[in-house]
Amino acid sequence: MCCIVAYVVQREAYPILIYGLKRLEYRGYDSSGLSLLNGKLREFKRKGKVQDLVNFVKGKNVSGSMGIAHTRWATHGKPDDINAHPHQSGNGRLTLIHNGIIENYAALKTALLQEGHVFQSETDTEVLVHLIEELQTRSNLPLEEAVRVALTKVIGAYAIVVMDERDPGKLVAARKASPLVIGIGDGEFFLASDATPIVEHTQKVVYLNDEEIAVVTRDGELQIKDIGNEIKMPYIQQLDLKIESLGKGDYEHFMLKEIYEQPNTIADCMRGRINAAEGWIKLGGVDQVQERIAQSKRFIMAACGTSWHAALIGEYLFEELARIPVEVEYASELRYRNPIIDREDVVVALSQSGETADTMAALELAKEKGALIYGIVNNVGSSIARLTDAGSYIHAGPEIGVASTKAFTGQVTLLTMMAISLGYQRGTIPKSYYFQLLEELERIPGKVAKVLESDTQIRYIASEIKDANNALYLGRGYNFPIALEGALKLKEISYIHAEGYPAAEMKHGPIALIDENMPVVVIATNKSAYEKVVSNIQEVKARKGIVIAIVTEGDKIISSLADYSIAIPDTDEPLTPLLSVIPLQLLSYHIALMRGCNVDQPRNLAKSVTVE
Ligand code: F6R
Repeated sequence: MCCIVAYVVQREAYPILIYGLKRLEYRGYDSSGLSLLNGKLREFKRKGKVQDLVNFVKGKNVSGSMGIAHTRWATHGKPDDINAHPHQSGNGRLTLIHNGIIENYAALKTALLQEGHVFQSETDTEVLVHLIEELQTRSNLPLEEAVRVALTKVIGAYAIVVMDERDPGKLVAARKASPLVIGIGDGEFFLASDATPIVEHTQKVVYLNDEEIAVVTRDGELQIKDIGNEIKMPYIQQLDLKIESLGKGDYEHFMLKEIYEQPNTIADCMRGRINAAEGWIKLGGVDQVQERIAQSKRFIMAACGTSWHAALIGEYLFEELARIPVEVEYASELRYRNPIIDREDVVVALSQSGETADTMAALELAKEKGALIYGIVNNVGSSIARLTDAGSYIHAGPEIGVASTKAFTGQVTLLTMMAISLGYQRGTIPKSYYFQLLEELERIPGKVAKVLESDTQIRYIASEIKDANNALYLGRGYNFPIALEGALKLKEISYIHAEGYPAAEMKHGPIALIDENMPVVVIATNKSAYEKVVSNIQEVKARKGIVIAIVTEGDKIISSLADYSIAIPDTDEPLTPLLSVIPLQLLSYHIALMRGCNVDQPRNLAKSVTVE
């Protein structure tokens, strides 16, 4: 949620740190700060965006070839200048940035208060830097050893970087359950929560593992130990990330760019994995564990937020096409409810970031119980990707807008390929249908491009309903998870209260909300339940609700009933979600923009939820 970035040692650190913070701001953005070392430590912290920090620092001395910097997403203590990171030790010599939560901070703080420590902030992080100081001074330990011993006393999640005014040649970093990447330059190092600020400087990286501590020095040395003091060999990897993919291009917002990228990202997800002409689907990850999958008695899909909605579509796909029972779980619930999972289960984790704390914890639990762990992840090299037994990347490229769009369609594309492939292998779909689905899947990127052509019309509809206080999204079958996703997109970026419901459930409660002020978005492309959806729309109209219908091209009946309708190309029903979600993404984007909201960085949210 927060992000950290640090630099040692050749050049001036300040511009590198600010550039890094701007790249990482999407991960958390309520306050930011930095410390620079040039003989003496200098610290600057500001509530607000990174730009507020830049304005604050203007005209001040920011020289120094070593530094650490941070943007925060508040957990302990409100977002303000004092609670912003970095945090200093009592003697002012140590400075530390932290991503994660120190769960036992209250007990540690009580003990440190008894030793005479005085705290400035309400944060858990400040407790950790005082603990390191206490160990360093009491036992006269070198910095890295004081950090190591301190971390043995900590319960919780952390990625930290520490700098010591008296030991100016090094930075000490460590991680547990929060990501940390070390970029290796030519005689210089870059440390960050993810690789986006590093790729500009170097392609060589080391992903730190849980409970590892790294020391990087002015002399170009990188040393890694684990928390048990055992030396580890750094595993250097080559980044596969393009700088151009990190910019907005000609678009006003990352979210819009990412919506428009979908014809390409869906094609990228399928590239080399399907060939309709030759009739094959090949997923390397599935091949790797084919036997275990064949023996499995059910799939459990665990995820959060938008990824959970993709998982729900996975349930419909796997059950219909492959006749495999699927349970879809909120990772945050699964991890705490002593679930029945065993060796015959396949647990599929879906995650854009690959760093979501709840999803990781659920996976660890499933792993302990012996299940096969399969990851469907976007962020290459992320913690979840490394935790799984096998998996498939969705290849959507960096998703920077906080509201997930192209990662969602990537996840659904991947699940669709898996379900079709398993269905064919298990003989649960006929050969002719298998070929039909493959051909249609290859046409989907073109059809998504066609849906995007409705943008002007969608913008008009947005202008008509933008002042609503509430909205209802209804869908049946494959379009029910799309109703949930449409509602989530609207609420998270426009702050309009919205709910997604199975269309038929409306009469069991939500119908009471409908009046002439209530926009009701009905995803009405279904073939199997068409008449039922028509009836649901009649029920809304009878109560004067404003109906915005997503219909299949050529539909006359629903279009004549609805106040507004948006047509999408016809496709096979299991593939509908890949098309029907697109107008809902655009609708929420335009509404949020018209309401003056910060589309890419909505309030209170963060892109990567690395805390519980
Ligand atoms: C919504 C959104 C979130 C994420 C959720 C899981 O637009 O982005 O709901 O989907 O926080 O994140 P990942 O997929 O990174 O595990």
